[in-house]
Amino acid sequence: MKNVIITSLLSLITLLSSSVIFAQTIKLSSPDGKIVLSVNDNERPNYQVSFAGESIIKPSRLGMAFKSVAAFGDGFTISSSKEKSAKEVWQLPWGERKNVTDEHNELLITFSSIKNSKTFKVRFRLFNDGIGFRYEVAKQAGLDKVEITNEFTEFVIDDAKKATAWWIPARGWNRYEYTYNTTDVESVDRAHTPFTFKLASGTHISIHEAALVDYAAMTINQKRPGVLKADLTPWSDGILVKTQTNFKSSWRTIQISNDAVGLLNSDLILNLNEPNKLGDVSWVEPAKYIGIWWGMHINKNTWGSGEKHGATTSETMRYIDFAAEHGFAGVLVEGWNIGWDGNWFFNGDVFNFSKSYDDFDIKAVSEYGKEKGVRLIGHHETSGNVTNYRNQMSEAYSLYEKHGVRQVKTGYVADGGDIKRIDEYGIIRKEWHDSQFMVNEYLHSITEAAKHKISINTHEPIKDTGLRRTYPNWISREGARGQEFNAWGTPPNPPEHTTILPFTRMLAGPMDFTPGIFDMSFNGLGANTNRPQTTLAKQLALYVVLYSPIQMAADLPKNYQANLAAFQFIKDVPTNWHESKAIAGEVGEYVAFARQERDGEDWFVGALTDEKTRTLTLKLDFLDKSKRYQAQIYRDGKNAEWVNNPYEMIIENKDVTANDELVLPLATSGGAAIRFKALN
Ligand code: NOJ
Ligand code: CA
Repeated sequence: MKNVIITSLLSLITLLSSSVIFAQTIKLSSPDGKIVLSVNDNERPNYQVSFAGESIIKPSRLGMAFKSVAAFGDGFTISSSKEKSAKEVWQLPWGERKNVTDEHNELLITFSSIKNSKTFKVRFRLFNDGIGFRYEVAKQAGLDKVEITNEFTEFVIDDAKKATAWWIPARGWNRYEYTYNTTDVESVDRAHTPFTFKLASGTHISIHEAALVDYAAMTINQKRPGVLKADLTPWSDGILVKTQTNFKSSWRTIQISNDAVGLLNSDLILNLNEPNKLGDVSWVEPAKYIGIWWGMHINKNTWGSGEKHGATTSETMRYIDFAAEHGFAGVLVEGWNIGWDGNWFFNGDVFNFSKSYDDFDIKAVSEYGKEKGVRLIGHHETSGNVTNYRNQMSEAYSLYEKHGVRQVKTGYVADGGDIKRIDEYGIIRKEWHDSQFMVNEYLHSITEAAKHKISINTHEPIKDTGLRRTYPNWISREGARGQEFNAWGTPPNPPEHTTILPFTRMLAGPMDFTPGIFDMSFNGLGANTNRPQTTLAKQLALYVVLYSPIQMAADLPKNYQANLAAFQFIKDVPTNWHESKAIAGEVGEYVAFARQERDGEDWFVGALTDEKTRTLTLKLDFLDKSKRYQAQIYRDGKNAEWVNNPYEMIIENKDVTANDELVLPLATSGGAAIRFKALN
């Protein structure tokens, strides 16, 4: 009980049902003592958090309201509390690191109302890098089926005007695919999580959630200045969550660090997820891939049939040849199945996931691939008609399994709030991508795919909340603006975009960003065309900075053929790591990561900057002290700049040790990518 201090505040005597209840405050600290949580029932359940003496979350409400029973809020008092501590090291089958340490102190508080004869629990976990808490509602008299209509959870912060937030709007038509706003916190309206902000003191905080299962996603809504409130995404009928007792909410998480980089070196979200439920997952294969993909985005090819059809048997074989020659494990093929003709955005009703176009022979290409050691990567675009997909899912995964496919990319292109489902009465309902209905729908595809030893890479997904720990076949997902916006987005991703992603979207988990565009001149160069607004070296750096166990070499093979020297880095960079460390960075300005390959000795560094040039001096103390390394450096050339001279790049080798420093000059929207090849 050493972390718990119960203080009875005699001055706050509450009279309730003629019994006398003392308002209580219960405190718990993180293992290192720096984060202090304080929970009390003064009028209503609330909590507050401090970090190294600084107030992080001011007294903030807890509780929820229901459609047909009285709310869990006013009048609920602390009736019991229990404390626990845990420390364990567990392993990720694939990931940014092999061994993950989970060290936390836990506090389980029961709130009760004598008037309502109801109880609910809040389980808090305090780690050295932040806190998580979730609601747990047990079976009890008068509470069986529940419909949640409001979650009271607040995150109240001091001086919101002086805090800076990097955020994307929630409940918008483009789901999670927005450029980031950088504003003071008081100017934030309704935002998605991870919601990252920096207090005037420099302390960095990110609010998100973990283990989102059978619950609605939480967005952040500013009710009054500085009062950030949980705002769960509703079903089409307005209910937030439909469930029954016993139920648990997802974990509400608050990552806390005294600097920006600290947010990146945190496993808090994963630690709050359940262990692997799939058993042996040796069939989940982290790897690099190429695909019949970019050609469609730059209008060279079409998904639909006709002269420009990309997904033909012969083109796929050509891609398989290229993959085999350069060591890529898979070839993604989009547009192979019936349904793409016309405006495919609205073809959700007609997609057929088992019938291919006449010019695509799935048997022939998969057998050809097998001979060459390259797997076909499947693709299912639903255009948001999830009932049509669900009806065909089992057959569709069986077909792919039969042809040796181990990975399927799914797509849910539809405006926010426009996912089409047919309910049990045959009525069409329109749902949000982050509603409870879709949370369950996405997870259903993961568990169904697992039965066929298939991993899923979800595009237009529900945001990641660390479920890859429990379901390691949820191998990657989109859920932010990826490379595709550089082909056709208005505007394309600005130079700062990938300096914000690591501190926001990527805190949730891997992203299938699809880096590696070598030819940026498909519409000409300059600042006002659709193109990647980066240098070539920055495209390489993305492979290390934006973690995903599957990474695409997104450009056309001919553009790699034209620059085999730069392509070498993409061929060399692993997608599975023994260890990862963010080593420098400020949100929206620059970032650098060092990662050591899994089952190997080499280290890799990726560093990139926004529109400003800068020189990064990186200490190499992450390297093994007893080894010498050859640093194979790919960096911006002397006159490189993203607008008109993005290609100028220097490739040079240097022998280094852990005692050295590396000085990396980065061009405007530039970067550097380095392989440290162990020499002894
Ligand atoms: C959107 C996805 O993000 C993109 O990668 C894909 O090519 C299209 N949908 C078509 O499915
Ligand atoms: Ca997309």
